[in-house]
Amino acid sequence: MPLVILNTELPLFTWTVDHPWLSAFLLALGSFTFLRFAVKTAVVFSQTFLLGGTSLKKFGAKQGAWAVVTGASTGIGREFAVQLAKAGFNVLVAARSTSSLNETVSEIASAASGSQTKVVTIDLSKDDEAAYASFADTIAALDIGVLVNNAGKSHEMPTDFVETPKSEMDDILAINTRAVLRITALVVPHMLQRKRGLILNIGSFAGEIPSPMLATYSASKAFLATFSAALGAELKPHGIVVEHVNTYFVVSNMSKIRRASALVPTPRAFVRAVLAKLGLPCGAAFTGRPHTSTPFWSHALVDYAIGVLGWTGGMVSYTHGLHKSIRKRALRKKEREAKRE
Ligand SMILES: NC(=O)c1ccc[n+]([C@@H]2O[C@H](COP(=O)([O-])OP(=O)(O)OC[C@H]3O[C@@H](n4cnc5c(N)ncnc54)[C@H](OP(=O)(O)O)[C@@H]3O)[C@@H](O)[C@H]2O)c1
Ligand SMILES: *[C@@H]1O[C@H](CO)[C@@H](O)[C@H](O)[C@H]1NC(C)=O
Ligand SMILES: *[C@@H]1O[C@H](CO)[C@@H](O)[C@H](O)[C@H]1NC(C)=O
Repeated sequence: MPLVILNTELPLFTWTVDHPWLSAFLLALGSFTFLRFAVKTAVVFSQTFLLGGTSLKKFGAKQGAWAVVTGASTGIGREFAVQLAKAGFNVLVAARSTSSLNETVSEIASAASGSQTKVVTIDLSKDDEAAYASFADTIAALDIGVLVNNAGKSHEMPTDFVETPKSEMDDILAINTRAVLRITALVVPHMLQRKRGLILNIGSFAGEIPSPMLATYSASKAFLATFSAALGAELKPHGIVVEHVNTYFVVSNMSKIRRASALVPTPRAFVRAVLAKLGLPCGAAFTGRPHTSTPFWSHALVDYAIGVLGWTGGMVSYTHGLHKSIRKRALRKKEREAKRE
């Protein structure tokens, strides 16, 4: 019995014979598209679930180097400070609340007694020249191996742009963008001198998917992605790794989510994944954004799915709907609290 595929009566077969170059081109295009999809998918899954990233030793762990962590008083930043200390760094923690920073320091003292610590109390919303000068003095003699630009601020609740208080816009821009530039500019010369360093910029999916009702925050995080990619290319030849850490929800005061789930890790689990996957794009590998990584496994899968679907418009409307309902709930909660007082 002849194979169906050799049936010369089939319209596709006669079409192929009549257009040999065009059909060869289409076959090549199809194969290329499929191969590209398969290879990228393999990269995402192997990096996310199998491979380990660059060792922190390359950035001075256990060799007396310092890690500088902004926003280290709570949440993700505190966890970076503690885990970097455990990995063998001395740690400088910066934020506004001295008492909370002190708590971070005592956590470090009990988790990694060999680590030295320094506390810098600074309000990154203030563009305060004197504060940056004093920060520069504090780090002048330090061998800095790691900088984590983690301090960040979002809107109090999802709000239409026209109703967003000017002070909130100013604070978000100052903390999420200008402070990152200023602190990075102060630290990079230390890293250049020693020809090694790691800069982690803590970004958000809100920078990848434009987020209605969080417009200012969303744009500030998109800024971080582009800044990281440009800076990363500049610093790579000098042995300095820049990584924009693409983050979906994490349990914290900012997300207002208290219970962990598959999609929402604790800061501890999240930071562990970041530090285990340094230099690997993981979930960001599918769409190939240089110097961006989506290291936590479920966040990586979401990032991969967004890349495969490639439907940003749909994601924007989904996010808009989500934020409308979050706002409604937040307003109701505020009302209840007002009544109780
Ligand atoms: N949690 C999430 O779901 C999520 C998702 C995506 C991205 N992220 C990003 O992750 C980073 C950490 O967020 P988080 O969830 O850990 O939030 P968080 O618990 O609210 O912590 C924010 C940190 O930033 C510091 N900070 C805020 N305003 C500051 C200011 N004016 N000057 C100096 N430090 C300031 C805070 O310290 P003080 O109050 O003591 O100043 C605190 O240590 C942020 O960049 C955030 O955008 C979080
Ligand atoms: C939330 O912030 C308060 C201080 O503002 C801090 O004591 C608490 O640990 C934070 N919660 C989380 C989950 O980080
Ligand atoms: C933080 O710790 C330092 C050094 O131990 C201490 O001098 C300072 O009073 C503490 N500050 C707060 C607000 O707890």
